[in-house]
Amino acid sequence: MDLQGKKIVLGLSGGVACYKAAELCRALIKQGAQVHVVMTEAATHFIGAVTMQALSGNPVWLDQWDARMANNMAHIDLTRGADAILIAPCSADFMRKLAHGACDDLLSTLCVARPHGVPLLVAPAMNVEMWQNAATQRNAATLRADGIQLFGPGAGEQACGETGLGRMLEPEQILDELVASFQHKILAGKRVLITAGPTFEAIDPVRGITNLSSGKMGYAIARAAREAGAEVTLVSGPTALPTPFGVRRIDVLSAQQMMDAVMAGVEGQHVFIGVAAVADWRVANASEQKLKKQEGGAAPALEFVQNPDILATVAATTSLSGWPYCVGFAAESENLVEYGAAKRERKGIPLLVGNIGHHTFGQDENSIVLFDESGHTVLPRADKLTLARQLVSEIGKRLEARSLLT
Ligand code: CTP
Repeated sequence: MDLQGKKIVLGLSGGVACYKAAELCRALIKQGAQVHVVMTEAATHFIGAVTMQALSGNPVWLDQWDARMANNMAHIDLTRGADAILIAPCSADFMRKLAHGACDDLLSTLCVARPHGVPLLVAPAMNVEMWQNAATQRNAATLRADGIQLFGPGAGEQACGETGLGRMLEPEQILDELVASFQHKILAGKRVLITAGPTFEAIDPVRGITNLSSGKMGYAIARAAREAGAEVTLVSGPTALPTPFGVRRIDVLSAQQMMDAVMAGVEGQHVFIGVAAVADWRVANASEQKLKKQEGGAAPALEFVQNPDILATVAATTSLSGWPYCVGFAAESENLVEYGAAKRERKGIPLLVGNIGHHTFGQDENSIVLFDESGHTVLPRADKLTLARQLVSEIGKRLEARSLLT
């Protein structure tokens, strides 16, 4: 539960996206947050306070003059001890109010009254023309300059029938952005390139050789690196996983395509993490037409040729500039400590991550060992996102140590 014990003030301003705020509220609660809902009068035209009260399990606050708070200071009491104030949806008019420090209803007043250090996060939601309007853009720039974080907006079909930027992000995306806002930004300003998933080596147009890698670990690392402030590119073999929010994903099938995509994007990267389970061989005599079985005939004879080693190729290019910092993965079924240390040397990389056992493919939990020049460290069994965050933090520390040295 990523928001365990966090107190979140969820503010709703007027917009049809209020219907998504109900789902967002549930998602926050599911992650362990305590949610206190505050609505503007306009928001109550789109969703009932009763719904938000039932979902949040707390009284909903609408009015500055509501006498339910003993001291009659809801704008103060709600924000003291809050971990974040999240306005979703945030209308064009509410952005204007925030940009000008307005205090003409409870929600705007509590935003101005929030203590220093309580983050204010807003998810804009409006028609495309309203979003693109010069005044809204001026207000958005003011909010950013004031340290208010904007989540989205997204692009796509809008409730009004028009299409473009201005849609509120989906509840899951807002949740991911909120969770990300609490993570340490150890990779701020860094570019990270990651490979993930299996590769698929064709035998003919409909058949191929692949492996059981689910891509979960690589995708978790992509998410964790983005949460830590990095600009992330994920070169992915075929998986059924959703792209982590804010991550650029390039889909490939074969090891050669993965190699081409990596080499096309590696320049300017600070970190390269090879998590993909890359096929060591491809079929040399792949058929352009579907292979047909013959009655009583022989099985097709496949010939193999070795694939390029993507990680070792990237590692070889770092000898000139020192970048990117290369991280490899190894799945060993025995002698992990001995094999892991040897593999790190062989691949010429500063950090190698060993999976304990080769049966981690597709599992949600894992246990890993980090090998570097000073030995090895075990990260105990945990879910893959927790391990990914620990790994990203370890990488960040090593980058910091490097920049102190240079
Ligand atoms: N890797 C790669 N390109 C390849 C093969 C592997 O980039 N053609 C990367 C993987 O992404 C991973 C690491 O190298 O980071 C794994 O190295 P590898 O030598 O293939 O180790 P194992 O898969 O553990 O296989 P083996 O022990 O058989 O060498």
